[in-house]
Amino acid sequence: MNSIKKEFDSLVKSVEDKESLKQLKSSFVGKKGKITHFFKQMNGLPDVSKREFGRKINELKGYIEDEIRKKSQEIDKFVKQRALEQELIDISLPARINKFGAVHPITKTIIEIENIFQSLGFNVEIGPEIEYDKYNFEMLNIPKEHPARDMQDTFYVNDNVLLRTHTSPTQIRIMKDTPPPVMFVSPGKVYRRDSDITHSPMFHQIEGLLIDKNIRFSDLKGVLIQFLQMFFGDVPVRFRPSYFPFTEPSAEVDIGCIMCKGKGCRVCSHTGFLEVLGCGMVHPNVLANVEYGKEYNGFAFGLGIERFAMLKYGIDNIKLFFENDIRFLNQFSYMAGKTL
Ligand code: DAH
Repeated sequence: MNSIKKEFDSLVKSVEDKESLKQLKSSFVGKKGKITHFFKQMNGLPDVSKREFGRKINELKGYIEDEIRKKSQEIDKFVKQRALEQELIDISLPARINKFGAVHPITKTIIEIENIFQSLGFNVEIGPEIEYDKYNFEMLNIPKEHPARDMQDTFYVNDNVLLRTHTSPTQIRIMKDTPPPVMFVSPGKVYRRDSDITHSPMFHQIEGLLIDKNIRFSDLKGVLIQFLQMFFGDVPVRFRPSYFPFTEPSAEVDIGCIMCKGKGCRVCSHTGFLEVLGCGMVHPNVLANVEYGKEYNGFAFGLGIERFAMLKYGIDNIKLFFENDIRFLNQFSYMAGKTL
């Protein structure tokens, strides 16, 4: 029995997991275990010795079972300890910062302009970038021989289809499908064969149209002055007579130079003013082309979004909008503290 106890003591020391412990247990106190074997030997002994022998075996059995229970608890503790160590979070590691995307300055400017016009009651409409010649030119009262139709300015897909050169065809699309009154702005991409520091072959415009009864030039002025001052702040606004085939009368609108506050600088060519949009009362021919009744009239306007964004955010090269330089774009992120 002593040698069995020694054997057990040395074996139990080297056990490190539950499975080996189970095997050890069954080899000593299991059905075919060494201790169980002693019990079987007892039968042949005289009664007196039997009692003494039985007590000793039970003592040994109890000892082994106790040791196994202790060892089992030790293993549990060790396994738990190791799991905790492996799960340990190293709070000294630098955090992984979530990167927030930035709204592109063009998108941001479009949304700002849309919001202003929506607050004045205008809807937002979208027209296609691939357009019929008929809507881009003809129905806007731009006759066949007009210089704006020159191959040099327009990307043609075929004789009748082109990449729209302005957002004005949206006027035709909406009016031909919607009975008056209509009141909307329409942002989007436009294309022209032009490329230098202030021109890109693709750029963005917003078109505006308001048609109802008894609309006057003063309504146009009121809406555009309100819009420009909501967008640029408290700037002077002036209207100059101009010409567009689809409006009569037509005007171009200037604001006091943002850069020099009207004193005269390089940006405003020392005039103190910056031209920002074209507008006018919708030409009767255009209204007739979409079969609007003679009692309806209204005004339209169009502006270049890149120009608005450049002036508002002090950007001096139009190419910056299209190069996708993350250092430039990040300056328009929400994280930079600017909200839409
Ligand atoms: N479509 C003109 C352009 O691209 C801009 C414009 C001027 C639009 C006057 C208008 C308008 O609706 O009334 O240059």
